[in-house]
Amino acid sequence: MADVTPEDFNRAGNMDELLALLARAGVENGWAKKEPSMYPVPKKRFVPAHWQFARTRAALEAAGRFVNTELAERRNIILNNPVEGNAYPTVTTLVTAYQMVKAGEIARSHRHTSNALRLVLEGSSEMYTVVDGVKLPMVPNDVLLTPNWRWHAHSNETSKNAYWIDFLDVPLTHLLGPMFFEHHEEQIERSDVIDANSPARFAFADTVARLAAETEFAPGCRRIELGDPAMATIAIHVARLDAGASFTQAPSTLSSVFSIMQGEAEAIVDGRKFIVERGDVVAAPSSTTATWKAARECYLLRVSDEPLLKYLNWLRPIAGRA
Ligand SMILES: [Fe+2]
Repeated sequence: MADVTPEDFNRAGNMDELLALLARAGVENGWAKKEPSMYPVPKKRFVPAHWQFARTRAALEAAGRFVNTELAERRNIILNNPVEGNAYPTVTTLVTAYQMVKAGEIARSHRHTSNALRLVLEGSSEMYTVVDGVKLPMVPNDVLLTPNWRWHAHSNETSKNAYWIDFLDVPLTHLLGPMFFEHHEEQIERSDVIDANSPARFAFADTVARLAAETEFAPGCRRIELGDPAMATIAIHVARLDAGASFTQAPSTLSSVFSIMQGEAEAIVDGRKFIVERGDVVAAPSSTTATWKAARECYLLRVSDEPLLKYLNWLRPIAGRA
């Protein structure tokens, strides 16, 4: 506003002169913007997408030859949504990555304000995530949480490489600003304490047992939530579909990312059809319609920003979207 005076505005003789003065003053009119700031229903930005574990696993194997955990904080491959101009998020609030920790290797201890969870694809009872100094086993299909500011490291005390999928709310942290990150003063918190029953670990055996006792929400489909919710910004649901069973996730403001823990399914997200195998990842961004049909019995993981949207009272269906 520095070089535009009240007298300049007083002398403006028409709209064009007024707009020119506003431009000089570095402000914009609110009555004839090029892009309206409010609109009837949410705009779609991110697109449906599918990533195959088999292919990414090979990429991580290659990375294992060139990238050690001294060079990289984590050896991971980020699944950035393939919409033009995007370099990071998988969906609006979440980023997803595949990670490998080689046999005998340590991924050093750190903590950050972003909430994180992981789905184990290849691991064992001697592969650990160390959370605040306690070792949590990483058995295939376990889900492990490392919420806001909890120390965590990974220690592979086996003779096989371990693989998992990370889900984090980093895009949300970037948007709101409160990103903090630090390394632990030790490479890893040395610990002999193993806690397979930690509330930060959802063992697959327990998930299977809970689902078996659940009633159907659609023919042949059962669903449970891991945590209530798992973390402040992220909810985790697991559905079990009998062979041939299907359900549809109606379009809403929810951003979600799916993976298959066991089995195989077909996903149709906004008309795009994906054949999804174990460990694959599917992005179902907000506003999309996602239909899942099990080719054989299938355990389907969904990670979403449901608790965040519920807290803000912004979890809403989007009628008429297909
Ligand atoms: Fe981390």
